[in-house]
Amino acid sequence: MRRDTGSLTRTSRGAFAVLLLMVVGLAVPSIALAEGQPVDEGIHTSDRFTPAQGCACHAEFVSQWGMSLHSQASFNPTFEAKLDEAEPATRELIEDFCRSCHGPVAYMTGELGMAAEDMTGASADSIGCSFCHQVTGTDEPIANLSQRVEADGVYRGGLDDPQAPHPARTSEFHRSAEFCGGCHNVNHPVNGLALEATYTEWLNSPQAEEGITCQDCHMSEAPGVVGPTPGRVAAMGPEREEIHRMTFWGAHVERGNADAAVQMLRAAATLTVEVPDVLAEGPGEGVVQVTNSGAGHYLPTGLTDVRQMWLEVLVVDAQGTETEIARQAFGTVFKDAEGQYPAQIWDAVAVQSDIRVPPMESVPVTFTASLPEGAESGTIVARLKYTSITDKLAEAAGRENPVTLMSEISQPIYASPEAKQAAERVDGGLMGIDTGTLAMALGALVAVVAAAIGILVLRKRKSAGA
Ligand code: HEC
Ligand code: HEC
Ligand code: HEC
Ligand code: HEC
Repeated sequence: MRRDTGSLTRTSRGAFAVLLLMVVGLAVPSIALAEGQPVDEGIHTSDRFTPAQGCACHAEFVSQWGMSLHSQASFNPTFEAKLDEAEPATRELIEDFCRSCHGPVAYMTGELGMAAEDMTGASADSIGCSFCHQVTGTDEPIANLSQRVEADGVYRGGLDDPQAPHPARTSEFHRSAEFCGGCHNVNHPVNGLALEATYTEWLNSPQAEEGITCQDCHMSEAPGVVGPTPGRVAAMGPEREEIHRMTFWGAHVERGNADAAVQMLRAAATLTVEVPDVLAEGPGEGVVQVTNSGAGHYLPTGLTDVRQMWLEVLVVDAQGTETEIARQAFGTVFKDAEGQYPAQIWDAVAVQSDIRVPPMESVPVTFTASLPEGAESGTIVARLKYTSITDKLAEAAGRENPVTLMSEISQPIYASPEAKQAAERVDGGLMGIDTGTLAMALGALVAVVAAAIGILVLRKRKSAGA
């Protein structure tokens, strides 16, 4: 009996403790996170999210966003082709996880995976205005769609003094990289491996230390321009000294704004080459430094098992024939639980290799330079190139896969000091005043001198005659 009573008491104490923990457990997050709720399946109706075409006062932003990949993220043939690579069983498990971040409104309204024409409201916008502007903050860790949302029709943004006809509120959070980080950090949903880590890369970058955010580089006036510039956020709104735009300049030449992507890629990296220019004693060792001078994260970043960046080093002869002497690919290779690689992201348990260029740092690529057969001179050319996806994935998705030249550098090499001198003499002749101009100038000088002598002689004769 006593034992029973005792155990009863213990049970009721235990129940009380559990109840207390539950109350505290519920209270703590609601104090720490004043607003919003985690993005979750089926929590909202689509009338809570205005489609982009309803934001017509911001017509310029609507068209900028329309060219960005955020407006196409749910209906991307490459994304579908990648999903198709998942075995049917895996696909069932990961599909919602994948689609949620590529279409957060469709996820919240339970319309995930539907055809665009069957979707309602802003679900078909993929990642649209009324999603981003109803975000209030983030949960930790910052990854896997960790943003919190309050679908109350109050649009949050970075302005100190919003003057909108609709409810609007200043949000420090929208000025931060953490806002983007909730989606631009993707961790494996089961084992937590970092599959995409653009936000974390930024967090450890010199740019982050200087306060340069994702917004400063990706929402600027023009690709390659860093930071806000003057402009209007709405047609009827006041001219402001500092605004960001809804451009989201990226690196996708085939699906996004092609010109902008090429400019972004060209703003990202610089090359230097060091190689002995006279190879009198045979082949010489050279090095190309690939410097990430323009991106606030690794090069490449994001989906780095799919994105392709590589350096080619070539020797070019006088006829323009190119011979490759070195090649270095940059990217991440994952491995699976059996240690096999390359592994698909859903099978990945660890990183097998990661050769990329951290922000404001350089990676050396060495090569052995030699002259083309029997040539007295040649040129070392290094080219950094990029494509958004692998050729295999492009084929599966039925897409083109254009290659972009990010950066190029060259340096002449010679077989002997004499060959170098000879080339420099020719160069001097070609680059200095050309001989035709020189002849004309000399001719003019001779004519002037002759005329002067003539005048002098005439004068002498005159004075002699007088
Ligand atoms: C991926 C998220 C995202 C999407 C999509 C997006 N915005 Fe923004 N928007 C932002 C962020 C972040 C800022 C603040 C930038 C800053 O100040 O650093 C911003 C700023 C603005 C501003 C300037 C005023 C303010 O409050 O900062 C307006 C107006 C605006 N957005 C309207 C729109 C419209 C209209 C669309 C759809 C066509 C849109 N946005 C789509 C994230 C987004
Ligand atoms: C100092 C400027 C700068 C900052 C800061 C910056 N980026 Fe970038 N970003 C670039 C440049 C330049 C490129 C093009 C080269 C490349 O692909 O990395 C780029 C490319 C990208 C790409 C496309 C990658 C690819 O290969 O498809 C994404 C996505 C991206 N940035 C997201 C972000 C996010 C998110 C942040 C903040 C956490 C951020 N960027 C911060 C300059 C910047
Ligand atoms: C709701 C999740 C989400 C948020 C928030 C978000 N992004 Fe994205 N972003 C994506 C997805 C998904 C893609 C890829 C879309 C595709 O390829 O179809 C993408 C693509 C991009 C690209 C283009 C990459 C390329 O290869 O060209 C850039 C640049 C970019 N985002 C920058 C930002 C910045 C800057 C912010 C913060 C202001 C931000 N994103 C906020 C999910 C998000
Ligand atoms: C938490 C957000 C998030 C989740 C979850 C997510 N992605 Fe993405 N995805 C992104 C972002 C951000 C980009 C753009 C990054 C970049 O440009 O490097 C992207 C880009 C892509 C692209 C490149 C599209 C193109 O046209 O180049 C493919 C393919 C893709 N994701 C497939 C997947 C698959 C498959 C899954 C599920 C295993 C998945 N994603 C889950 C955020 C996410």
